[in-house]
Amino acid sequence: MDSRIKIIQGDITTQKVDAIVNAANSSLLGGGGVDGAIHRAAGPELLDECRSHGGCLPGQAQITKGYRLPAQYVIHTVGPIWHGGDRGEPELLRSCYRSCFRWAVAHDLHTIAFPSISTGAYHYPVEEACRIALSEAADFLAGNKTIVKVIFVCFDAATHQAYLAASKSL
Ligand code: APR
Repeated sequence: MDSRIKIIQGDITTQKVDAIVNAANSSLLGGGGVDGAIHRAAGPELLDECRSHGGCLPGQAQITKGYRLPAQYVIHTVGPIWHGGDRGEPELLRSCYRSCFRWAVAHDLHTIAFPSISTGAYHYPVEEACRIALSEAADFLAGNKTIVKVIFVCFDAATHQAYLAASKSL
């Protein structure tokens, strides 16, 4: 695996990176899980800026400033809700990662941290989701020299273990 990819267990809101990714919903108006944690840590100005975007479709992403976060930017992406896997969920999840990397390139970012998109409230099986996350990062980095670090920040031990296991089998 590309040595620029790191897998850690922790809280994404404390990461000192150019951008953290938010696993948002299509309203972009906040929610629970990592979305709630990011809005709480960033402060109310984040919600104001999110409102101005008018939402986001699954598989796509929008970028805002990070406000009170250590990260300069937040890239908000909307993962697929898991319905069994035959409603385009893998393609949509891949598209989330690709959309985030496009924003990273557009803003000349060097470091980016991802949560485990869709594997909480949206119930995407983590063993499948993390293979997509890691393979999209590896594919992107194979053609990119400006990003120096991609961190996958796993909140709980089971997610962390799944990412570590997937990274060994890639
Ligand atoms: N740092 C890193 N990861 C976190 C944090 C945090 N502070 N808080 C939660 N997580 C983890 C969860 O444990 C899970 O592994 O993020 C992963 C994604 O879970 P969710 O936040 O539930 O995101 P998702 O499954 O994509 O569901 C999106 O949840 O809150 C809503 O508005 C959001 O409706 C949207 C839905």
